[in-house]
Amino acid sequence: MKTHILALAALLPSASDAAKFSINAQPFGEVDGKPVQLYTLSNESGAKVSITNYGGTVTSLIVPDKNGTMGDVVLGFDTVDDYVEKSPYFGCVTGRYANRIAKGKFTLDGKEYTLATNNAPNHLHGGEKGFDKQVWNANLGNDGDNPTLALTYTSPDGEGGYPGTLTSTVTYTWTQHNALRIDYNATTDKPTVLNLTNHSYFNLAGEGSETVLDHKVQINADRYNPVDPTSIPTGIAPVKGTPFDFTTATPIGKRIEQDHEQLKNGKGYDHNYIMKDSRDGKLGVAAIVTESTSGRTLIVKTTEPGIQFYTGNFLDGPKGKGGKVYNHRSALCLEAQTFPDAPNQKEFPSPALRPGETYVQTTIYHLGVSK
Ligand code: GLA
Repeated sequence: MKTHILALAALLPSASDAAKFSINAQPFGEVDGKPVQLYTLSNESGAKVSITNYGGTVTSLIVPDKNGTMGDVVLGFDTVDDYVEKSPYFGCVTGRYANRIAKGKFTLDGKEYTLATNNAPNHLHGGEKGFDKQVWNANLGNDGDNPTLALTYTSPDGEGGYPGTLTSTVTYTWTQHNALRIDYNATTDKPTVLNLTNHSYFNLAGEGSETVLDHKVQINADRYNPVDPTSIPTGIAPVKGTPFDFTTATPIGKRIEQDHEQLKNGKGYDHNYIMKDSRDGKLGVAAIVTESTSGRTLIVKTTEPGIQFYTGNFLDGPKGKGGKVYNHRSALCLEAQTFPDAPNQKEFPSPALRPGETYVQTTIYHLGVSK
């Protein structure tokens, strides 16, 4: 029997046909007069992810360390009000256009569009009320052995200045192997641009741990986008011979304080890397992160052509879960995406979506341990 509604599966006896997972739903408050839920998808081992339909936000990701001790590896808050009031995009779906669009302007098919410049002088992460601040419709399900949560949001034509009614579905699947798979799908009724991502902040030693400077990172890219002092790409450059070379596993802290113009422009690492093996539906390994004390590992796979590597440079000590203080550089983000400012940079992959086309993207965050 496989009826996976709310916490029912957890109550089933452990017969051979019993569910391998459970899904729990509980009220998580109200936003814009709409009730918001917190969904927890657990696999057979007890590892679990919690996601709210406010912003499609991953609020916790609880996985074992090398000794089997469970710990939460993503930053977040205990209440939806904290997310509304002060979240620096913790765990959310970011859109319509994740990352920056220069001066909040772009031209598509000869028509100019103006967006909010909420990260002066640029547009960032969809503007004042992006996808991270919307209440999404939720549908629970499973793909056999793994629980799923499908979230849908229809953004009206003109919302935030973007053209076209855009319907997006983000499906989270929590696998038996501790992988969080995220499948995105979107359609529009007018030509538009989009760039969706997930903005989880990871600390593999556990959220609230001091910094991620000891985390070793390997990124499957030999090129990246250098940026101007407002974080808009100025082109494409090789990583070789620079502190941006993560082609072999390197601790984040090893070179982050080097005297390099790009580290100043990004206030640390806050740059898009150009994937070698991912693009156009091809799922490639984008990055591998390891943390030796916990033994935890994170493998990121994506179909996207780029990944933003961000080292929590703007984290300034918000109080998160259980009152823990999230210090400067106490987390890292690996945001699979198309390139920043692509609507204005013709040599970048096109971020345009037209009626009749379907935007698809898959990104997987696979947590594990190495002993
Ligand atoms: C992204 C951006 C950063 C910063 C964070 C949110 O990663 O690239 O510059 O805006 O989001 O604080």
